[in-house]
Amino acid sequence: MVRIAPSILSADFTRIAEAVETAEKAGADLIHIDIMDGHFVPNLTLGPQLVASLKDKTSLPLDVHLMVEEPRFFIPLFHDAGADWISFHLEASAHIHKDVTLIKELGRKAGLALNPATPIHLMKEILSELDFVLLMSVNPGWGGQKFIPACLPKIRALKAWLREEKLDIPIEVDGGIKPDNMEDLIRHGADIIVAGSAIFSAPDPAAVIGEMKEIARLHDRRDDP
Ligand code: DX5
Ligand code: ZN
Repeated sequence: MVRIAPSILSADFTRIAEAVETAEKAGADLIHIDIMDGHFVPNLTLGPQLVASLKDKTSLPLDVHLMVEEPRFFIPLFHDAGADWISFHLEASAHIHKDVTLIKELGRKAGLALNPATPIHLMKEILSELDFVLLMSVNPGWGGQKFIPACLPKIRALKAWLREEKLDIPIEVDGGIKPDNMEDLIRHGADIIVAGSAIFSAPDPAAVIGEMKEIARLHDRRDDP
């Protein structure tokens, strides 16, 4: 079934542990943690200390999305901090194979993230090595931005390509997702839905996660060819 990954970027930073506990109790499948370095994206967010302190607050996998230049320097730090899934941007790495291999050698799930205008064919020689693909549906840097509709055919094209290659690699989609547009994303092939502001800027985050889980259940694609 499609999984829900609440992004704590939109949580109250003075109460992040509480936000994570709420998300877990409400049925979230992963906790998405956005790391920004002020270079690859203009914003600065969280570091490995935060990841380490959340590690014993939840049994959910910590899905660390690195929006940083030279990810190879950061991968070991986030591995040591307890990240379970680590993705970095294709646009930020000169040695994609090396960085993917490093994450896998460290025993973590390796994901490659693509900005909205980055074509999926650039993953051709690495696709089969990946544990997941993260397609950005906003330009990375901030929560609360508007979904870019051109990402829908991109998700569909990647899904078709993965099927053709008989690769069982989940597509995570990140940015501008709300219960309203989730169904469309699932229909186009999204397997993991990241949502920040839709959940944590709402008065009742648990209710939104519940709603998203219900949409995922109703549109379960298990029987897809
Ligand atoms: C954006 C981040 C996202 C962000 C999504 O650069 O990668 O994970 O938290 O936030 P929303 O769901 O508000 O678009
Ligand atoms: Zn993210």
